[in-house]
Amino acid sequence: MKLKDLKKVRELEISLIREYFSSTLENKWEDFPQEWKDNLGASSTNHYRPYLDSGLSFVAEEDGEIYGFIFAQMLHHIADVSNLVWIENMGVDPIVRRQEIGFRLLRETLRAGREAGAEVAHSMIQPANAPSIMLHKKIGFFMDARQVALIDLKDPNLKI
Ligand SMILES: CC(C)(COP(=O)(O)OP(=O)(O)OC[C@H]1O[C@@H](n2cnc3c(N)ncnc32)[C@H](O)[C@@H]1OP(=O)(O)O)[C@@H](O)C(=O)NCCC(=O)NCCS
Repeated sequence: MKLKDLKKVRELEISLIREYFSSTLENKWEDFPQEWKDNLGASSTNHYRPYLDSGLSFVAEEDGEIYGFIFAQMLHHIADVSNLVWIENMGVDPIVRRQEIGFRLLRETLRAGREAGAEVAHSMIQPANAPSIMLHKKIGFFMDARQVALIDLKDPNLKI
């Protein structure tokens, strides 16, 4: 993935985030504040840089069109390993799904990560996302019983 790809990747990532939200949120996309929407996704202005610099993010491109992307970066000293590939997000345009594009994007990131010295890769998957779960399993990931606990440190009502 290069800087020149970012505009099209952003359009695709946002359309996939909208696809996901339309099945989970009651609010209409149009009702959310623009600032909040601008900050969503690894392709947002605030987040893309480490993913471009990592050498672990890729696009699926043909004739100048972007049909898929994967955002990943290397994290260090996490989960008992020195180098861990963190897969932040990936997606494939619905018109070309089930043609091995997702598989090849994921494989490329894992190969590049291994070459760069990574020992493991972690990927965040929503429990109901069957296509993503099946894709990860096909390539050799396993899912354990861990769950992520989250806290909003900017919540003014937080009692810490
Ligand atoms: C998940 C996603 C990236 C898969 O991309 P894709 O290019 O369609 O996947 P592939 O064609 O490479 O499929 C590889 C394997 O994944 C599994 N898979 C993919 N889509 C599937 C589906 N709809 N149902 C069941 N298994 C599926 C299959 O095991 C498939 O192998 P097979 O075709 O030999 O059976 C794509 O569905 C997508 O962009 N979804 C929306 C965004 C998203 O959920 N991103 C993941 C965030 S973690």
